[in-house]
Amino acid sequence: MIEAPKGTYDVLPVAAEARAVLEGHAQQILGRAGFKRIETPVFESTELFVRGVGEATDVVQKEMYTFTDQGGRALTLRPEGTAPIARAYIEHGMHKLPQPVKFWYLSSFFRQERPQAGRYRQFWQVGAETIGSERPEVDAELIVLLAELLETMGVKGVRLRLASLGTPETRAQYREELTSYLHAHEAQLSAEVKARIELNPLRAFDSSDPSTQAVMKGAPKLLDQLRPEDKEHFDSVKALLDVVGLIYELDPTLVRGLDYYTRTLFEFTADGLGAQSGVGGGGRYDRLIEQIGGQSTPACGWAAGIERILLAGSEVPVAADTVDLLVAPAADRLAGATAPQFELAREARRAGLAAQLELTGRSLKAALKHADRLGARYVAIVSDAEHVSLKEMATGEQHELSADAVIAAILRGPRL
Ligand code: HAM
Repeated sequence: MIEAPKGTYDVLPVAAEARAVLEGHAQQILGRAGFKRIETPVFESTELFVRGVGEATDVVQKEMYTFTDQGGRALTLRPEGTAPIARAYIEHGMHKLPQPVKFWYLSSFFRQERPQAGRYRQFWQVGAETIGSERPEVDAELIVLLAELLETMGVKGVRLRLASLGTPETRAQYREELTSYLHAHEAQLSAEVKARIELNPLRAFDSSDPSTQAVMKGAPKLLDQLRPEDKEHFDSVKALLDVVGLIYELDPTLVRGLDYYTRTLFEFTADGLGAQSGVGGGGRYDRLIEQIGGQSTPACGWAAGIERILLAGSEVPVAADTVDLLVAPAADRLAGATAPQFELAREARRAGLAAQLELTGRSLKAALKHADRLGARYVAIVSDAEHVSLKEMATGEQHELSADAVIAAILRGPRL
C-alpha cells in the first residue's frame, strides 16, 4: 500500500465539516471588520522566502520544501503566508488603493518539521494581514480579532503574550549588550545556556536553571531600550487592549521564528496542545515590503494553526445531513433503463431538494434499508416515467404517481 507522506494527513468528510464551521466563523469575524479573502499560489520563487522570512531562520535553513522545476526555476512550497501576500500587494500595485488594505486567508502551508500531535508537514493556517498603516489601532484590532476567533471556537486556556521588538537596529544593539552581560556572568550560567550565548542569547531567559534565572533577573531587557517612538507605539497598543479588557502578559523574551518582525510581537498559547502550545501569533513587519522590492510600507498580521485551534477548541457541532429523496428502481427494473430515475433525481435537485440516486444496483429491499441509514425522508421507486411509487419513510405510506408529480408531492409534504 502507498501511504500519504510522513507528516501529512487526509481531511476526511467529518473533519472537513468542522473545518467548514471554523472557516464560516473566520469569514464572519474578519469580514465584519472589513478584511477581504485572498489566495496566493501554493508555490513561490524560493528567493521570496529567503529575502522575506530571513536566510538565517530555521524555516529557510531547514524546513522549506524547495525544488527546481523542469525550466530550472528555484521554487518553494509556501512555508507561511505573509511574504506571499506582501509580494501580491507589490505586484498588483495595491499601494494605490485606499490604505490600509486588509486581507484574510485560510490556506495550507508546508514545513519539513518533525511531525507530532499538532505539528505537521502540510498544515493549515487562518491568517489576517493589514497593510499600509502604522497606527497602533491596527495591531490592537488584529489581536482582538484573533482572540475573538479563538473564543468563538471554544479554545481553552488561552494566554496572550506580548512584546515589542523595536527596530532591527535597536535589537542588534541590545543583542550585543545582552551577550556581554552573559559573558560577564558566565560562571553562574548553566552549561547549556553558556554554550548558546553567541548563537541565541535570548534563550537564557527561558532557562529553568535557578542560578541562570537569578542572573537573568538583572539582565538588560529589550523593552527598556526601545526608541521613544517605538515605546509610545507599544504603550498605545497596550492601552487599546486594556480598553477592551483583553488580558496579556508582557514577555520580553518572546521570540518568533521569522525575521521580518518589528515593533509589536504577540503569541497566543492554549492548554492541551502539549509541546506545541502556540496556537497563533504574529506581529508588525514594517520593513518586509521594502525588503522584497516595494516601497516602504508598514504592516501587521497574524496566523493561527487550524489543526491546533480544532485540537484545543471545543467539539464543533456538525449539522446532520438531510436527504429528502432517494430515487431507486422498482424491483423488476433493476437491469432496465435508468433514464427516468436519472431525470427525476436531477429535477428534484433543481427544485431544491437533497436527492440521491441509488447507485449500486442493490435489490429494492436493500435500497430501502439504505434509505433508512441515510435518513431519507422519501424513496421514489421508479418503474417508468408514468409509474412511480413514492414511499414516506416515517410512516411507511406509499402513493402511486407519475414522475412529474413526485417533486410537487414532496414539496407539499409532510403528508403525501
Ligand atoms: P508562525 O508562528 O510560524 O507564524 O505560524 C502561525 C501558526 O501556524 C502557529 O501558531 C501554529 O499554530 C501554526 N503552525 C506553524 N507551523 C505548524 C506546523 N508545522 N504544523 C501545524 N501548525 C503549525 C507565521 O506563519 C506568520 N506568517 C504569522 C504572521 C502573519 N505574522 C505576521 N502576519
